[in-house]
Amino acid sequence: MPVISVPEEFNEEELYVDLQPLLGHSLFLKCEGFNFAGSVKLKAAVAMVEAAEAEGVLIPGSILVESSSGNLGVALSMLTASKGYQFVCVTDSRCNLSTRRLMEALGSEVHVITEPDADGDLLGARIEYVRALCASDSRYVWLNQYANSNNWKVHYHTTAPSIARQFPDLDVLFVGTGTTGTLMGCARYFRQWRPRVHTIAVDSVGSVIFGGLPGRRMIPGLGTSVRPPLLNESYVDDVTWVEEPDTIRMCHLLASRGFLFGGSTGTVVRGAVDWLTQHDAGGLTAVAIAPDLGERYLDTVYQTNWLRDIYGEDVLSAYAMADSARSG
Ligand SMILES: Cc1ncc(COP(=O)(O)O)c(C=O)c1O
Repeated sequence: MPVISVPEEFNEEELYVDLQPLLGHSLFLKCEGFNFAGSVKLKAAVAMVEAAEAEGVLIPGSILVESSSGNLGVALSMLTASKGYQFVCVTDSRCNLSTRRLMEALGSEVHVITEPDADGDLLGARIEYVRALCASDSRYVWLNQYANSNNWKVHYHTTAPSIARQFPDLDVLFVGTGTTGTLMGCARYFRQWRPRVHTIAVDSVGSVIFGGLPGRRMIPGLGTSVRPPLLNESYVDDVTWVEEPDTIRMCHLLASRGFLFGGSTGTVVRGAVDWLTQHDAGGLTAVAIAPDLGERYLDTVYQTNWLRDIYGEDVLSAYAMADSARSG
């Protein structure tokens, strides 16, 4: 019986969903959403905060500040509440309302950027705001998840070895990409310890991480408009891109069987299925990582009017697809 005294002590590391019955492809989905922060970003938050404390950068009286599209912000809100620091999260208008409320409920201040920078970029504007805050008062501490090596190291030391233990015959691992912390930690681990494992990055169409053209992306977590400094492509065996309407359809297909996952999980699963189909890889042992669960997306990914406004009427064929999956 796990008994904890601080929320960061608990994280379910060993839960997988076998998606074969639903998808017709052998694919195991590692669920990273079962902790008090509700996402994979708990790991990065703990690793970056503990490193900053050990280095003496984060001290009593410090105010943590971070740019986050949501999940790292929630994880840092939880952690700073637990440890007694103040936290300011700088996000933008794409952040889900429920995610913002979660951060505020945990005692954080949330600053929402609505105007893009000179290049038309909201992420750039968020970073500018963080830099200005740090310049204004020496109590502010910015962990900078985009460049902080503890963001990938924690996955090298926890996520990847845990998958390796559970799947000694692993052939392919699919990882979604935002800061690329999860991807780089896993890819570096498998290249070093199990070089026969292929690590495949899954990104959204419209993201520039792997050199694609910038475009509109409405689902938070995956994709960036600026190439993340953590990325080293030499560790990544392949990349697959997913259109957001396909992400939405996959989320609804999973939900039709009772698995309510977040938007980026729909992307990762859809990217994995596409890659396995293209590579005729039916006999391979494949794992994909699900970064969070679906309740944060009830007003977006799982909301009919939002879907229609953003993607048009066609995407609602997702419901027909979900229904046919249920009756099938
Ligand atoms: C829902 C979700 N999916 C995927 C990611 C990407 O993870 P990483 O930043 O490790 O690339 C994030 C990161 O915040 C996320 O919140």
